[in-house]
Amino acid sequence: MFPSKSLFVAAVLFVSANAQSSGSSTTSTTTTSSTTSTIPPTETGRITLPISSYPFTRFPTPSGPPPITGVFPSASPLDPPAVSSDPTIVPDFGPAWAEAWSKAQAFVSTLSMDGKVNLVTGVFLESILCVGNIAAISGNGTYFPGLCLQDSPLGVRFTDFVTAFPAGINAAATWNRELIRHRGVYMGAGHKGKGVNVALGPMINMGRNPEGGRNWEGFGADPFLSGVAAYETVLGMQSSGVQACAKHYINFEEAWYLTEESSNVDDRTEHEIYLQPFLKSVMAGVASVMCSYNLINDTYACENDRTLNQILKTEFGFQGYVMSDWSATMSTLSAVAGLDMTMPGDITMDSNNSYFGANLTAFVNNGTIAASRLDDMATRIVAGWYFLQQDQPGYPNVSFNSYDALDSHNLHIDVQDDHYELVRQMGASSTVLLKNNGVLPLKNIRSYSIVGSDAGPGLLGPNGYTDRSGDDGVLAMGWGSGTTQFPYLITPLEAIQARARVNRSSVNWFLNDFDYTGVQSTVAEQDVAIVFVNADSGEGYITVAGNYGDRNNLTAWHGGDQLILAVASANNNTIVVTHSVGPLIIEPWVDHPNVTAILWAGIAGQEVGNAIADVLFGDWNPSGRLPYTIAKNASDYPSEPIHGGGPTSILKIDYSEGLFVDYRWFDAMNITPRYEFGYGLSYSTFEYSNLCITPVANVDSYDAGAITNWEAGLPSLWGVGSSTAFWLHTPAYTITFDLTNTGVYYGGEIPQLYVHFPTDSGEPPSVLKGFTNANLSPGETQSVTISVSRYDLSIWDIGAQSWVKPNGTITFTVGASSRDGRLYGTVPV
Ligand code: BGC
Repeated sequence: MFPSKSLFVAAVLFVSANAQSSGSSTTSTTTTSSTTSTIPPTETGRITLPISSYPFTRFPTPSGPPPITGVFPSASPLDPPAVSSDPTIVPDFGPAWAEAWSKAQAFVSTLSMDGKVNLVTGVFLESILCVGNIAAISGNGTYFPGLCLQDSPLGVRFTDFVTAFPAGINAAATWNRELIRHRGVYMGAGHKGKGVNVALGPMINMGRNPEGGRNWEGFGADPFLSGVAAYETVLGMQSSGVQACAKHYINFEEAWYLTEESSNVDDRTEHEIYLQPFLKSVMAGVASVMCSYNLINDTYACENDRTLNQILKTEFGFQGYVMSDWSATMSTLSAVAGLDMTMPGDITMDSNNSYFGANLTAFVNNGTIAASRLDDMATRIVAGWYFLQQDQPGYPNVSFNSYDALDSHNLHIDVQDDHYELVRQMGASSTVLLKNNGVLPLKNIRSYSIVGSDAGPGLLGPNGYTDRSGDDGVLAMGWGSGTTQFPYLITPLEAIQARARVNRSSVNWFLNDFDYTGVQSTVAEQDVAIVFVNADSGEGYITVAGNYGDRNNLTAWHGGDQLILAVASANNNTIVVTHSVGPLIIEPWVDHPNVTAILWAGIAGQEVGNAIADVLFGDWNPSGRLPYTIAKNASDYPSEPIHGGGPTSILKIDYSEGLFVDYRWFDAMNITPRYEFGYGLSYSTFEYSNLCITPVANVDSYDAGAITNWEAGLPSLWGVGSSTAFWLHTPAYTITFDLTNTGVYYGGEIPQLYVHFPTDSGEPPSVLKGFTNANLSPGETQSVTISVSRYDLSIWDIGAQSWVKPNGTITFTVGASSRDGRLYGTVPV
């Protein structure tokens, strides 16, 4: 969010009658006055669910007597388990949390009420450097230097000499754990290098609606893929020393007036779809979680006892802290419902009052909120800081000012390192080859026509629009808070011309999207015409070309369809490249005989041009796979953003498709997509053979009872950490098979495992539960393994509040996409 804007008038309606200033201070090291308040603790908030009998929980993730086979006794998030294409170990951050908690408790015990309240209330009304700021506080002998919280999920926002990484949707399209982990490591290093304590990412809401404005910040439309990407990103970011923040918790799947909508979701769908990436983030040791603007089943996300206290802090055993999204706090009593920190501090931007601050002090003073709860809030926040060892000497100071480019805090520290190499590699690895009539990779081409404004630079430069709120030139990022400044932006035209110099070929271009006569005369007689089109979206506080964050339709921008058709009518070797935030309807031209190849390139960051050139010219054999379905008609998808509502009439968004999100819906309804989830071609071909599934012997007596119980189809007890218990997540079966490269190019394949639950289980026909990646030379055969856990083979039993194995036979398919099964098996349980 951009702080200067005034927004969310709606929130004001829910302001407590007694909300007022919590005092002011002038520097980031002063404290907020809170003891002078005489405010009575009466509040008219919107909490509609009963607060649970316990006000909070801080119990650690269950940690058995080590060593447990398959459990990595990690001492620190700075030293996580190594990345693997088939992870078989579950990290145990319990000991590291315990140590951080004991240090934090010791520190918090020395603080006055003011100090504790200041720890949980963002700093406002003063010169701030980061998008979120917690003031410095001195305890008895310990100095806590405060916290800098900064966007975004693809780099460091509002500063210079940073790297603009590929968006989350591209990270997901690689289906490559190693690349995703590295992206996290490098983003974490960039944030730390600038002095950021808490990086506000990853963004892990689900791509439920193909038009969802912020989908590109996240990891696609499948909970398993999104869960893997969340897990690797958190492990990577935190291994660099920065605190990650899993956002936006939860059911925040569209960009329309956020505080005026209630996402209504049943408990099974919540557990199996929307919670999965948050659960995986907790298992990766995420230090913080951001609650979202919307309501969930009629209760605001930041005062939702069910999602915060019961699920996140109890069932998942989350030991870090929950911060509000910017101005998403709706009451002081949110603290009882599980909110630990309010951001940016004031109720609405520049409103000069806070639900925490003096109000929180008053509520604690008269016993409405237990003093122990305030201790817990403060302790969770300081524990996150100790957990990442940010108390150690040498943690960098904040070296930028988000809001004043001329301020002397801007030290212009270069945190780019050689991260551009990963950006380029991930850009290529996330490009999905949808169609290829044998024309790619390009060979022996003498003349090229490069067509479309998306091939070249924008007139205003890469950062010409605030928060990237314009679509001019090549699209390499969406718009909103999930952005960074580009340090530079290599366009496709620039990268292809660099090749032409070496290849001694000729390049013409035509970047006007609407002059069809002009473009046709340019592309005629050229060996190949490469047409670039795009589609943009972003966060709802900015409207671009009539799109209020969410996309108005699934059509290419700038008349892309007509442009492609015009080119294809004049050149019989027309290659289409899309830079799109999500699915497009491509029916107008996909089957055109002169459209000889289609590359789906997402939004790839600063090296976008080099990345696509690497794929076009065969330096990289495409291995990206679709992280969502491309339909034939927009109406084929199960849901779309719903707009309407208002401050006094909360809009109901019923997640009535339940478990049937994206490909699950197409499969169940027998709708043929244009390109299915998981689809993607290679310049090579791969064969699968020799399937085998083996149970993993449980060699430890620890949790043996729980496993026997599960195998008998019985539920386990709901309680602290019950959904993150090791026995549920360590490998239960290994599936092995042979993979052979039957083509002529070296390249990577992404074998995918889809589970088919018994029909009366209520599950969709196919559910992704595993994938790996393998790179093979022509003719080479490799044995490949995919491990599955009991969690992967369970469904959520609402009555028992437990993960259970459904009755009946569970079968599975291993193949190249959600609809390209190659090997079939049965789980021997
Ligand atoms: C966004 C968050 C972001 C925050 C701070 C909000 O508008 O929803 O994702 O981290 O602003 O900029």
